[in-house]
Amino acid sequence: MQVSGAVRGRVLSVASECVPLIKTGGLADVVGALPAALAAVGWEMRVLLPAYRALRGYLDAMDEVLADPDLFGGPARVMAGQIAGLSVLLLDAPHLYDRDGGPYAGPAGDWPDNAQRFAALSWIAARLAREGVQGWQPDVLHAHDWQAGLAPAYLRYGGTASVASVMTIHNMAFQGWAPAHLLAALRLPPDQYHPAALEYYGGLSSLKAGLVTAGAVTTVSPNYARELVRPEFGLGLEGVIAARAASVFGVLNGIDTEVWSPEREVMPYSAKKMQAKAAHRAALCAEFGLQVPGPLAILVSRLTDQKGIDLLESVVPDFVAAGGGLAVLGSGDPALQAALLALAQRFAGRVSVKIGYDEDLSHRMFAGGDAVLVPSRFEPCGLTQIYGLAYGTVPVVSAVGGLADTVIDASPAAISAKVATGIVFHPVDALAFGQALRRLIALYADKKLFARVQKNAMAQEVGWAASAARYADIYQGLVE
Ligand code: ADP
Ligand code: GLC
Repeated sequence: MQVSGAVRGRVLSVASECVPLIKTGGLADVVGALPAALAAVGWEMRVLLPAYRALRGYLDAMDEVLADPDLFGGPARVMAGQIAGLSVLLLDAPHLYDRDGGPYAGPAGDWPDNAQRFAALSWIAARLAREGVQGWQPDVLHAHDWQAGLAPAYLRYGGTASVASVMTIHNMAFQGWAPAHLLAALRLPPDQYHPAALEYYGGLSSLKAGLVTAGAVTTVSPNYARELVRPEFGLGLEGVIAARAASVFGVLNGIDTEVWSPEREVMPYSAKKMQAKAAHRAALCAEFGLQVPGPLAILVSRLTDQKGIDLLESVVPDFVAAGGGLAVLGSGDPALQAALLALAQRFAGRVSVKIGYDEDLSHRMFAGGDAVLVPSRFEPCGLTQIYGLAYGTVPVVSAVGGLADTVIDASPAAISAKVATGIVFHPVDALAFGQALRRLIALYADKKLFARVQKNAMAQEVGWAASAARYADIYQGLVE
């Protein structure tokens, strides 16, 4: 990545996840990739995160840059340092973050004080944006998802801040709703509790607060930006998005091509030298205990309703009967886990499921699979179909959100124009998904054509360059 000389501006990015420090989904990948991508176009970015228990080990080597004796019920400090090439600010507030469990939930479910935990993060973000960090003065505050949604609101309501703000929606399904009686405890101005500002279905939504107060709103694909004005995707916030239409931008996610590159796998391969992919496939079949005469499909995902995992039960029997096989890696909803394990038992040798989270295994799966399945009901962007493109692991996706923006269906027209990169189906139901899998069987049987589609896929630009330039333009527009 090219690093330009002059700094055009400074951005404080605030989020609840960031690779390689803490991750539950694609949000972390994006927050972790943006600093390098933006540095290449002249924007310096620091990332503010909560100091979860798992991150406390970093604190000793960091410098205190701010102290707050009472941050939503306890003392807090902000620590600054370099971690894994990122300029990181950790919000050390033990009463909120020093707990066993994940970022949002403990052993007994969601933390009951999540509203306060992420309000505190947002409060500190607004304060750092306004006051700067030891002479480093941000021009833009960039908030990600509901966890950071109050940051633009605190900035706006806190007086005449000259700092611009951007609110990015990674997933509209998580809106940070809280009961109205928390208004004062969350340090929000009572006179802003009305439908045009903070009020949301009789309570508060930190995502809505960000959407109405930020200078610009972005989401992670152009198609999702268009979908969000429809109730089935806007999920109650469609009117807010429509009202802000002039300031809503869809900026497609990239992937980190240094982490996700077939040329960097244990057995390297590329569009020109595909031989090693067959060796990866054999190794993967052995690892999952599979023997598959037709296409070997993979699926790597959080197991939730969003991802359309439940559809597999209806489509897998025919797919297997036609010669296909399936390797799954995922965790989440216990009912979906059980349904997948039942499929694996019923189709032993053809379907294999590993429940868990395993980054290394996911690499081996993308390298060894023939196709990657992403049958999501909605998908703001989606990263696994993009890994599929990069690895020549043909994406089979539903035509929603960023999936529709990143995969070109292998229709006869697209095939003859030599632009087909995968299989796209619509609507999101078992009938259309089953048909897509039959098309995969047929495509795979035509070795030459399948290789052509793989090659087209691998030729796609999947890095961050274009989208980093878009973010830079949005920042520049706000600062001017
Ligand atoms: P979402 O953020 O909605 O979960 P994305 O496709 O944007 O969906 O990002 C998911 C990210 O998490 C990808 O990097 C994917 O490879 C990774 N991932 C999801 N589940 C697993 C798992 N069980 N093991 C390893 N990586 C996973
Ligand atoms: C969310 C979305 C996913 C997107 C990711 C990163 O988790 O579900 O589609 O790729 O954020 O923006």
